[in-house]
Amino acid sequence: MATGNGRLIDYDALVRDDAVHGDVYMRQDIFDEEMKRIYQRGWVYIGHQSEIPNPGDFKRSWLGLQPVIFSRDKAGKYHVLFNRCTHRAASICQEDWGNANGFRCEYHGWFFRNDGELAAVPYADAYGDNFDKSRLNLRRPPRVDEYRGFVFASMSETGLSLLEHISGPAREQLDYFCDLSPEGEILVQCGATKLAYDGNWKLQMENTIDGYHPNFTHQSFFSSIERITGSKPGIFKGDSLSEVRDLGMGHTNIDTRAYNRADPAVKARLDMMKQTSWGKKYYDDLVEAHGKERAEDVLTVGGTHMNIFPNLCVLGQQVRTIRPISPDRTEVFLRPSLLKGAPDEINTMRIRQYEAFYSPHGGGIHDDVEMFNRVTEGLRCTLDPWLIFQRGLHRETVDEDGVRVGQCTDETSQRGQWRHWKSVMQEEINT
Ligand code: FES
Ligand SMILES: [Fe+2]
Repeated sequence: MATGNGRLIDYDALVRDDAVHGDVYMRQDIFDEEMKRIYQRGWVYIGHQSEIPNPGDFKRSWLGLQPVIFSRDKAGKYHVLFNRCTHRAASICQEDWGNANGFRCEYHGWFFRNDGELAAVPYADAYGDNFDKSRLNLRRPPRVDEYRGFVFASMSETGLSLLEHISGPAREQLDYFCDLSPEGEILVQCGATKLAYDGNWKLQMENTIDGYHPNFTHQSFFSSIERITGSKPGIFKGDSLSEVRDLGMGHTNIDTRAYNRADPAVKARLDMMKQTSWGKKYYDDLVEAHGKERAEDVLTVGGTHMNIFPNLCVLGQQVRTIRPISPDRTEVFLRPSLLKGAPDEINTMRIRQYEAFYSPHGGGIHDDVEMFNRVTEGLRCTLDPWLIFQRGLHRETVDEDGVRVGQCTDETSQRGQWRHWKSVMQEEINT
């Protein structure tokens, strides 16, 4: 496959079944191809509807390298608009989120409404008679769609629909996350923790569903839990019932269902919750909304821990977005979420749980960032450029939905991501 600079990229030589070459994290030409193929053709996560609940609300987001504004107009409709003035290209929104009547480009003062309409041009008469303002509204990606409030955009006018992109097993996981709400909706309205690291965007994807690392990378956090509770969590051990799964289309998850269903501590916590007035109300509301069997299952499973390829991670209480900047620079936004209709006590508990691990003073997220930086440093040693993803290859199975399954410390999920990545990078496209 020839790239813009004429260099050949042999993806078969870079991605094997059991290992990948370090170049896939470091080469600029491969990064450029990823932006073109993955982020400008496929579905990319933009934001959750609940982040912009009111007319005039907006937040910044990105389609790969391309800046967009996720905004809500005065009639309440949401839009995904390119953050690029149609005059001479200056970006018009510099704030991560806020509320405004519209967007005024600070270069020469052109003003755009929240729906992208060009509303005002200073000294417009100098443009002459054939100047048609209505042709200079903010541009927008050809396709925008959502699943349970998660809004995605695609630069391609054709191709898989969003529902085809988010495979059935992946949707099942998002449903677990949203069905924890008695109204079936999550609210992403608690701000964000923003982090950046010196490393490739795919390192975050690999790490989110890496069940091998927690007991080592986060050893100090788990030791604290052990000191407080008197027992060490067994969820990520080599003999845990937890699994990792390749859900298809590059989507992956750590599946703790079997572990949680068998863990007496999970049942004890639920029983304890039901003895409080707020816990009982929450339980009763969930049963009314989803039926007893589903409500109990949702509570036992407790959400999800997953990636939607290429830039959305949904885990624990949070919705996380990955923003690639360059081959060795990435930003990540972590946003805690609330459950619409749940008692305050439940939502407060979610926020405290999030803070314990993921906030700037939390006990876990820094460990991962440090590992991303260390991997990037190690990738500069090129004598043996391979990264090994062989763990559990000999024992993975395929279930009735075509989902590949491994024990939670296996590298089944990462292999699934790499398989999908390679297929997208090798696809024949007209450029
Ligand atoms: S670039 Fe925006 S008004 Fe000129
Ligand atoms: Fe981690």
